[in-house]
Amino acid sequence: MKITHILAAASAVGFLASTTAMAGPEAEVLHWWTSGGEAKSVAVLQQEFSDNGGTWTDMPVAGGGGDAAMTALRARVLSGNAPTAVQLKGPAIQEWYEEGVLADISDVAKAENWENLLPAAIAGHMKCEGTWCAAPVNVHRVDWIWANAKVLADNGISLPTTWDEFNAAADKLMAAGITPLAHGGQAWQDATVFEAVALGILGPDGFRKAFIDLDEATLTSDAMIAVFDQMRKMRGYVDGNFSGRDWNLATAMVMNGEAAFQIMGDWAKGEFMAAGKVPGKDFLCISTPGDGYLYNVDSFAMFAVKGDDKKAGQQLLAKLIMGKNFQKVFNLNKGSIPARTDVSLDEFDSCALLSSQDMATSNSNGSLLPSYAHGMALRGAQSGAITDVVTAHFNSDMSSADAVKMLVEAVKNSM
Ligand code: BGC
Repeated sequence: MKITHILAAASAVGFLASTTAMAGPEAEVLHWWTSGGEAKSVAVLQQEFSDNGGTWTDMPVAGGGGDAAMTALRARVLSGNAPTAVQLKGPAIQEWYEEGVLADISDVAKAENWENLLPAAIAGHMKCEGTWCAAPVNVHRVDWIWANAKVLADNGISLPTTWDEFNAAADKLMAAGITPLAHGGQAWQDATVFEAVALGILGPDGFRKAFIDLDEATLTSDAMIAVFDQMRKMRGYVDGNFSGRDWNLATAMVMNGEAAFQIMGDWAKGEFMAAGKVPGKDFLCISTPGDGYLYNVDSFAMFAVKGDDKKAGQQLLAKLIMGKNFQKVFNLNKGSIPARTDVSLDEFDSCALLSSQDMATSNSNGSLLPSYAHGMALRGAQSGAITDVVTAHFNSDMSSADAVKMLVEAVKNSM
């Protein structure tokens, strides 16, 4: 063999060796965290991943609530090219598991003792037939009212604790020329307001019967009619440009005093915090009127992919997601509280502490409930059927009685 060939072969080996050494954990991560507070939060994970030798390929799909992200995911899986890790939650995790496309992350979960670090309800969402198929990052609460402190003070309004008080405050604000409710007319946002109203009016047991058991008597009850009546009032409290508005732009309306209230999960707090606003001073939080707590746990599922680097990326990502420091820093930015029970809340604000206390109380009295609007309570077909009715009612002059009839039909047809 000529020396040049030997050198070429040697350098090829060297090249291979060095690329092998250079390559390492890889992850293409599909998520829908594109607002200010959300982007700041996901950057924490990205940073930790690269600090640990990982190469992160970002696949953000804008669109609050994740509908667009889920459409993108379906297209990728159908073309046989699933992303490595996907922001996925609730029963959708199980639905993808049943398609046979998820990776098993039980090794990491066992090594890291997840079973003992998570509340049983959250751990349950992360398991598929006993194996671990997703890793949780947080607990978001959905049933919140966010308010501009100065607007309320200037108008002599206190935070409402009943829906009647909410309506009285909103009427007063309307008379003063202020938009009472900052809202974005997108189906998932309509559903977010609807489920908060429903929890308040139906109560925790009624909510469970309606949105978990899909109980016909509850879906057609007078109480459900009252829920739609309140939604009709809510429609009167939004401004004329609400249609299609993104949720974070609605949060900005509360921030700059254009509107008084927003009903939204505590990712809205992530926006206030990213803008340097101070809870209790610039903005206020209170749970929506009524008992109970609607939880929404963000998590990542790993999809079955080929290649050791990608598999290593999944293991690393799963481990980092449940890391104690990550759960703290991520949730300080995101507006949520850690999923892990052993993370100190010392650095968290008053809204987060309220969330944590209320979660514990609700857990002990049976009123800790999964959010239907954020994909924690029902499979896609059922929650989609309900949301279609909620949106059709909100955007028309449909009567509450007709909405209830349509609701029960839609639910039946979705089974
Ligand atoms: C997710 C949050 C996200 C919000 C708005 C919710 O469904 O759980 O993490 O910030 O949608 O996009």
